[in-house]
Amino acid sequence: MTVASQQPVPTTKLTGRDLYKHMGSPKKIVAPMVDQSELAWRRLSRQLGADLCYTPMFHAKQFATVEKYRAQMFDALDGDKTADRPLVVQFCANDPETLLQAAKFVEDHCDAVDLNLGCPQNIAKKGKYGSFLQDDWDLIYKLINILHVNLSVPVTAKIRMFTSKERTLEYAKMILSAGAQILTVHGRTREMKGQQTGLADWSIIRYLRDNLPPDTVIFANGNLLYHEDISRCLEATGADAVMSAEGNLHNPALFCQPLSYSTSIPAHEDIDVLYPRLDILLRRYFNVLKDTPGEASRIAAKSHLFRILRPFLGIHIDVRAEVAALHKQSPIEDFATITEHVEKIVHNLLLDQNNRERDIVRRSHQPLDDSGAVYKDIPYWRAQPYFKPVSGQILYGGKRKLEESAEIPDNADKREKLQVVSTKQAASS
Ligand SMILES: Cc1cc2nc3c(=O)[nH]c(=O)nc-3n(C[C@H](O)[C@H](O)[C@H](O)COP(=O)(O)O)c2cc1C
Repeated sequence: MTVASQQPVPTTKLTGRDLYKHMGSPKKIVAPMVDQSELAWRRLSRQLGADLCYTPMFHAKQFATVEKYRAQMFDALDGDKTADRPLVVQFCANDPETLLQAAKFVEDHCDAVDLNLGCPQNIAKKGKYGSFLQDDWDLIYKLINILHVNLSVPVTAKIRMFTSKERTLEYAKMILSAGAQILTVHGRTREMKGQQTGLADWSIIRYLRDNLPPDTVIFANGNLLYHEDISRCLEATGADAVMSAEGNLHNPALFCQPLSYSTSIPAHEDIDVLYPRLDILLRRYFNVLKDTPGEASRIAAKSHLFRILRPFLGIHIDVRAEVAALHKQSPIEDFATITEHVEKIVHNLLLDQNNRERDIVRRSHQPLDDSGAVYKDIPYWRAQPYFKPVSGQILYGGKRKLEESAEIPDNADKREKLQVVSTKQAASS
């Protein structure tokens, strides 16, 4: 079936900056994440400060042709005007007509449709999509342009960089010329994955900002682990907003506004906002989960628990076993049991005076390497970023470095202990 027609682009369609404003000029964005940025997670993230969310990447062909897949991935409440906006729906595709067919199903339930040009996994290589389209600019142009011309909502794109900044710029220009209204730039090449992940390069995003038309809307992606990374990234890149995946998954409060920014509340109180206790965070997630319809949210919940509870599960292996036993059909009562178990443990932990005294955030005074990343020691019963070990080493120093060099003196008060230091790029997992 041919659904594309080469008519002029509807004049009512929002373009770049107007689309951005229409979505509320978002600053803090939840990234598209397969099996992880589903409705319940988006609702939780919005409660905790996210301004805009992306759906997981959907396979255009399956979405267009398999009703069961579509129903599983995009339920009645997905994209709901009151519960799930603003929302960008992301697809991977390598056939323009199929992409358009898929996108037509969601155009009335989202603010824009995004094309995934960043996935570096082998499955994307086999299927020829994501970052493996980087070699076929003609096809990329067609994929974007067909949506630009035929869809009622704008099209956007999420890209990885090339090694050369000049080539990345040419690439970005081509994508914009095809009709993309917003560009998300992940500052890693497609080779940077697994053990080669490394730090995202914010300077290349700055280069695009400085060399594309000034009105281009750019979202910067990569390296957000702590709340202060948001402003550092915006400053370093000049982007309109930041997008987070791993940082958001391990601590969905990453985007919360610290109380001390706008009130006289002392900074040490921010510990509960920025690194919430896991019992409190889990209860909040459970409350969202139980009220969220759709298979996708329930299926994703086990992985979410593993990520949120990561530091805790290494110590409380009985809870780990309970999470591991969850499966796709687990009833909501099983999640309730785990939530209650974690609540009980954290409650008991904090009855102990020693633990209450340790319930602070300590941060290193010194950058851990040339990137300037600073590690913070956060009690294991609180949400925190994850530093992935690479070749057996904890990336960017980790705990070892904190112990060696830079403990804050015992007599420092809690406010000082939480004081935010200026850091350069934090480690990205
Ligand atoms: C669990 C997971 C699933 C992801 N799925 C997608 C996806 O569906 N589409 C996409 O464009 N990127 C996907 N990514 C990549 C992220 O959107 C993001 O570009 C990358 O993780 C870098 O951002 P970060 O440093 O904040 O993690 C995924 C990442 C993770 C961790």
